[in-house]
Amino acid sequence: MPFRLSAAFAAALVALTLAPLPAVTPAAAQDENGKSPGLKLVLPAIDAERGRQLFVTKGCVYCHAVNGIGGKAAPPLDSDAAEPTVNLTDFAARMWSGAPAMIELQEMDLGYQIRLTGDELAHLAAFANDPAEQKKLEEEQVPELMREWYLDELPKAE
Ligand code: HEC
Repeated sequence: MPFRLSAAFAAALVALTLAPLPAVTPAAAQDENGKSPGLKLVLPAIDAERGRQLFVTKGCVYCHAVNGIGGKAAPPLDSDAAEPTVNLTDFAARMWSGAPAMIELQEMDLGYQIRLTGDELAHLAAFANDPAEQKKLEEEQVPELMREWYLDELPKAE
C-alpha cells in the first residue's frame, strides 16, 4: 500500500531533529594530473558521525543494514576496509546505479523520494566507509516506530 510509512517516518524525523552543522567547503587544488587547471575542485567536509545519524533520519535504515541494524531489502552498507578511504564520486555513482530500484521502492514504501544535499551525501559516504563509526550504530538509535517498518525483502510484482 503506498504511503504506509509516511506517518511513522514524519514522526521519527520530528523526534530526531539534528543541530545544523556549519557549512564547510574547503577547496582542494588539483594535482599535477588534473586536465582542467583553471577549475577549482571543491570538496565538502565529511563527518561520519553525522552520516550515522542521517542513515537513520533519512530512512536508509528501512532498506539497508549496517552492523546488523536495518532492513534486508537492499545490500548491506557495511565496510570492513582496513584503511578506510572515502571516494565521494564513487559513492554517488553507486547510488546512481542503484537509483531506479531505490527510488521505485522509496516511492512505494515511504511515499516519496529521499532528497539529499551534497553535504548530506558526503556525510553518508563517510559513514558507509568508516568501520569504527559503523560499529557505533545500535538498535536503540532507531526510533521504535521506524524499526517496525524495516523492509526485509523486495516487494513482489502484483
Ligand atoms: C526503500 C528502500 C531503500 C531506501 C530507503 C534506500 N535504499 Fe539504497 N538501495 C536500495 C536498493 C533496492 C538498492 C539496490 C539497487 C540495485 O541493486 O539495483 C540500493 C542500492 C544502494 C547503493 C548501492 C549499493 C552497492 O552495492 O553498490 C547505495 C550506496 C545505497 N543504496 C545507499 C543508500 C543511502 C545512503 C540511502 C539513504 C539516503 C538509501 N540507500 C536508501 C533500496 C533503498
